[in-house]
Amino acid sequence: MPGEVDIGMRRCTNVFLIGYRGAGKSSVAKELAGQLGWTWIDLDTALEAKYGHSIRTIFEQEGEQGFRDKERRLLEEVVVRDAHVFATGGGIVLDPVNRDRMQEAGWVVWITADAATIWQRLQSDPATGERRPALTVGGRAEIEALLRIREPLYRQCADIVVDAANRLPAEIASTIREKLSELRNAKRR
Ligand code: S3P
Repeated sequence: MPGEVDIGMRRCTNVFLIGYRGAGKSSVAKELAGQLGWTWIDLDTALEAKYGHSIRTIFEQEGEQGFRDKERRLLEEVVVRDAHVFATGGGIVLDPVNRDRMQEAGWVVWITADAATIWQRLQSDPATGERRPALTVGGRAEIEALLRIREPLYRQCADIVVDAANRLPAEIASTIREKLSELRNAKRR
């Protein structure tokens, strides 16, 4: 299979992109899947299609816990696939079950960006208002506070870390491919 990454005991034909909102996970997922000849899925979009409501509406009607339950169930369903690149929601790492599932089903790549970059991108992204709920106080303060909580979880879960600031999705995808190969060679030694 083109681009197959065959490493050790792990089923390695999936890549999970994790990281904060606005880091560019979906654009990189699309690009990386194109380079590998794989399929890519945005889990937020898949969740909205499965439940027939926007994430904002699910948050409004069921609260964050309702959304997290749906997110966990969806991940459980999709991890059985092969040769997929998944763009995950920014909070997927909060649940230890999700972290274990992703690590077992493929390689986990953390797309990092600093709070200033994320804030700038979210402000210029029309999906921000329509689809993405404020999780706490909103704005840059929310980003800084949630990054402090989530960064240790992203770090703990990730096999590979790639900085997205000032880089195009195609460059980030190429870097991920290089790092996956390095990882494969290291495991074979
Ligand atoms: C969330 C990020 C969103 C979406 C939901 C919760 C979060 O995904 O899953 O609004 O907790 O950071 P993106 O990271 O794809 O925007």
